[in-house]
Amino acid sequence: MNPHSPLDLSIYVHWPWCLKKCPYCDFNSHTTNRHLEESYIESILADIEHQKKLVGDRNITSIFFGGGTPSLMKADYIERILHKIDGLFSIQSDTEITIEANPTSTTASKIKDFKRAGINRMSIGVQSFHDSYLKFLGREHNAKQAFATIEEALNHIDNVSFDLIYGLPEQKLTNWQADLEHAIKFGTKHLSAYQLTIEKNTKFYTDVKRQKWQPMCDDVQADFYDCTREIVTAHNFNHYEISNFSKAGYDCVHNHKIWQYQDYIGVGAGAHGRHQTIDNQTYLTQNYRMPSTYVEHVKPVKHSFYRHETLTSHETWQEMLIMGLRIQKGVPIHLLERNNTTKQALLRFMQLGMLYNNRGNIALTDHGKLHLDSILTDLIF
Ligand SMILES: C[S@@+](CC[C@H](N)C(=O)[O-])C[C@H]1O[C@@H](n2cnc3c(N)ncnc32)[C@H](O)[C@@H]1O
Ligand code: SF4
Repeated sequence: MNPHSPLDLSIYVHWPWCLKKCPYCDFNSHTTNRHLEESYIESILADIEHQKKLVGDRNITSIFFGGGTPSLMKADYIERILHKIDGLFSIQSDTEITIEANPTSTTASKIKDFKRAGINRMSIGVQSFHDSYLKFLGREHNAKQAFATIEEALNHIDNVSFDLIYGLPEQKLTNWQADLEHAIKFGTKHLSAYQLTIEKNTKFYTDVKRQKWQPMCDDVQADFYDCTREIVTAHNFNHYEISNFSKAGYDCVHNHKIWQYQDYIGVGAGAHGRHQTIDNQTYLTQNYRMPSTYVEHVKPVKHSFYRHETLTSHETWQEMLIMGLRIQKGVPIHLLERNNTTKQALLRFMQLGMLYNNRGNIALTDHGKLHLDSILTDLIF
């Protein structure tokens, strides 16, 4: 690499609105105050300008419109945001530009408009191909609409991924296998399979607390996870991260860069970032969560952080392990030879067959992937 070429940077843009709040979701998503959309976009543009001053000239490797439901955005909003980024940093022809899309708000004409605006990757929140499970998950779409959206997306965009959720109460393994088979038949190049997590402050959390239903137990979830890996990898998908599978050349660049500890900035309500400033400090940034507060705050001061802190080298090391162990490549071995406690824990997990030496990097084995949280606790804390 040319020593004078600018450092790589990813950009995350948060769209905070959804048509309806799903009962399992604790993302920063809202259903009110959509009249703020126009001023929200103006705030995002100001936020990007401000953060450019912090990070300086950069090579933009990826841009990710996440949410909330960014497919509710007008294509014109996307165009204005990309135009601003291009003017400040310059977008390359190979910059990955993803939008998260929900089948309810993704029509054929919208997909074409998004593509014209610059989107080259789409991640669709399908969740299930079974109507009864979609109903349980409180989704507004049915399986037929999900099929139609995927087909339409694949007609216009080569790089289409979709999200599926497993581990629903009393879900049958055969139904989940059928979901995976459907996903594979579409010829998609990327797939995210998430285990249902019961998050605090969600309706599902209250339901479970009131014993309306029981979440799937850990052992059965592990069977679902193993089965997912077997089916998907048998169809030449690479299991490149705990919940993510891709065909060769189709890893999600954006998430990969973040797991590999590359700099990124986050713009929009609740977005966070982590980057080196031009005076060589590592900044962690976190924006105001409420769209109205974000808009209000960006106006007068032209920046949106309610918190930005610098990381110590110890915190940076912890973050690198937390992120890096998620991916197949793993982390450089020297990160785990930092002190005696970590070295001993590493040895123990290698003997237990949970970690292995992947050509100079330490990575999770298939067995280890089921125990990432406890491995991290022992390595780090
Ligand atoms: C921001 S949402 C995706 C975009 C869009 N809002 C949608 O839901 O279709 C990102 C993904 O996270 C997953 N997700 C959200 N909450 C989850 C939970 N509690 N457990 C497992 N997966 C979850 C879903 O698969 C969802 O598609
Ligand atoms: S899962 Fe997606 S659509 Fe549902 S509330 Fe969360 S962000 Fe919105």
